[in-house]
Amino acid sequence: MEQFDTALIGGGPVGYIAAIRCAQLGKKTALIENRDLGGTCLNRGCIPTKALLHTAELYSEIKNHGKDMGLLAEGIGFDYAALAARKDAVISRLRRGIEALVKGRKITLIRGSAAFSGPRTLRVSGTEPETALNGGEITIEAANIIIASGSEPASIPVPGADLPVVLNSDAVLSLTRAPESAVIIGGGVIGIEFATLLNSLGKKVTIIEMLPQILNGMDQSICEGMTKILTRRGVEIHTAAKLLEIAQGSGTKTGAICAYEEGGAKKEASGEIVIMAVGRRPVSKTLNLAAAGIAENRGFITVDERLATNVPGIYAIGDVTGKVQLAHVASAQGLVAAAAIAAGADVHKAPKMDYGIIPACVYTSPEIAAVGKTETQVKEAGLPYKTGIFPAAGNGRSLIMNSTEGFVKIITHAETGEILGAHIMASRATDLIGEIALAMKAEATVEELADTIHAHPTVNEMIMEAAHDVEGLCCHKV
Ligand code: FAD
Ligand code: NAI
Repeated sequence: MEQFDTALIGGGPVGYIAAIRCAQLGKKTALIENRDLGGTCLNRGCIPTKALLHTAELYSEIKNHGKDMGLLAEGIGFDYAALAARKDAVISRLRRGIEALVKGRKITLIRGSAAFSGPRTLRVSGTEPETALNGGEITIEAANIIIASGSEPASIPVPGADLPVVLNSDAVLSLTRAPESAVIIGGGVIGIEFATLLNSLGKKVTIIEMLPQILNGMDQSICEGMTKILTRRGVEIHTAAKLLEIAQGSGTKTGAICAYEEGGAKKEASGEIVIMAVGRRPVSKTLNLAAAGIAENRGFITVDERLATNVPGIYAIGDVTGKVQLAHVASAQGLVAAAAIAAGADVHKAPKMDYGIIPACVYTSPEIAAVGKTETQVKEAGLPYKTGIFPAAGNGRSLIMNSTEGFVKIITHAETGEILGAHIMASRATDLIGEIALAMKAEATVEELADTIHAHPTVNEMIMEAAHDVEGLCCHKV
C-alpha cells in the first residue's frame, strides 16, 4: 500500500490548489480525481459560462449598438457551435496548465474514484494506466486526508423534472446549438447568467423564481436594477412563482410547458428547453464517510474554522462544506487547510478562514459585484450607517464604453468610516470589486478610499466618487 503525507479527494479549484500548497510545504501528496482536473469551475462552471458570455456580449453590443459607435458590421450573426468550440479550447488550455502545475510539483495524480475504507485509508477504483499507480482498485494510506469532492446540480421533486427536455447547467454547457427559447427555473446566479447569455443571443427567456425577487441575498438596489434591465431587454421574470409541473409539448407546441402558480393564478410558460438552476448539492454520498466516522449535515461535511472535520487528520474544503459555493472561497479554504496540516502540533497558530470579506460576482451585462454587508443587513444589525452612490452615467469611461446603466454604492459606518459593504452594477464591476475588498481587508476608511488618487478616465473613478458621496462631497454629482 503506497503511503502519502496528504491525500486529496477531488481535483477541482480547491483540491488542486490545496495539493500544490501541500507539496510546496514539503508533503508527499496524492491527488485523486475521477473526472477532469479543474472540477466544476473549469469544466462545467465559471470558465465555460464566462467564455460563452464574453462572445454573446460582443455579439449583442455590435449588433445593437455597433452603428452608434461607428462600426459598420453588416449581417452580423453567430455560429453557436463555434462559440462552444472556443469555450472548449479555453477549457483545454487551462486544464493542460493545471496538469503541468500538478506534475511540476511532483504530486501523484491518481485517476479514479476515492472512498474511505478507514480514517487513514482510501480505496480508489477505476484507476487508469496513465497514473503513477497502475491497476484496477488500489488502497492508499495518508496521515492527512482532505475531502474536496465538490458539488453537483440539484433538482426539485416536481412532475416532469426528469424529462429529457429539462437540462441542468452541465447539460446546457454541453449544447452545440442555442435553443430558440428557454424557461429557467430559479433566478439565482446560474439562472441569471444563463438568462443573460440567451437574451444576448436574441433568444426568448422566461424565469420562474419562487422568492419575491431574483438574485436573492444581493443588495436590494442590485436586485431591482437587474430586474429592470433584463425586463426591458425582453426577459420575462416571474417572482414569487411556484413551479407545479413540467410537461413535454406536443403537436405545434414542441419543447416543454411549465405550469406554475403566481399570485394565486395558474399560468403556463413554454420553451424549447427548461433550465433547472435551483442550487447545488454536495458530492459526498459515494465517499463512505461512515468508514472514517466523519460528521455531515445533509451531505455537507461539518468543518471548523481551519476546515478540520470531527476526525483528527481529516479536512474538508470547497463546495462540499456548504459554506459559500464560490471557486475563490474554495481556493482560500484549500490554503488554510494546507497551512493547518503543515503546522502540525502548532495548528492553533495556523490561520483561520475569514468569511467576512468575500467578493461575489455575477456576469450579467452590465456586471454585478458585491462585498460585505447589504444595506438590509446593516439596518438589521442596527448599525449607524451612511451610503455613497455614484451612477455609471456620470463616469466618462463608462460613457466611452457605451455602458451607462448601473452604479457604485458604498455603505460605511456613520461614526468610524469603516467600509461595511459595496455593491456595484457596472461595466467591469467584477474587476472593480477587488479594490474595495482590499480596502476592507486593510481596514482602510472610506475617507482613505476617497483620498486615493484614481487614474482618469477609468471605471475605478466611480469608487472614488461614491466614497466622496458618503459625505456629500462628490464633485460630479448634484
Ligand atoms: P468542484 O469544482 O465540484 O470539484 C470537485 C472535484 O472532485 C470534481 O472534479 C469531481 O469530479 C471530483 N470528485 C468528486 N468525488 C470524487 C471522488 N470520490 N473521487 C475522486 N474525485 C472526486 N464560482 C465562482 O467563484 N465564479 C463563477 O463565475 C462561477 N460560475 C459558476 C457557473 C456554474 C454554471 C456553476 C455550476 C458553478 C459556478 N461557480 C462559480 C461555482 C464553482 O464552480 C464552485 O464553487 C467550485 O467549482 C467549487 O470547487 P470545489 O473544488 O469545491 O468542487
Ligand atoms: P442559487 O442558490 O444562487 O439560486 C437558486 C435559485 O433557485 C434561488 O433563487 C431559489 O430561490 C430558486 N429556487 C429554488 N427552488 C425553486 C423552485 N422550486 N421554483 C423556483 N425557484 C426555485 O443557486 P444556483 O443559481 O443554482 O447556483 C449555485 C451556486 O453556484 C451559487 O450559489 C453560486 O455560489 C455558484 N455560482 C456562482 C457564479 C458566480 O460566481 N458568478 C455563477 C454561477 C453559479
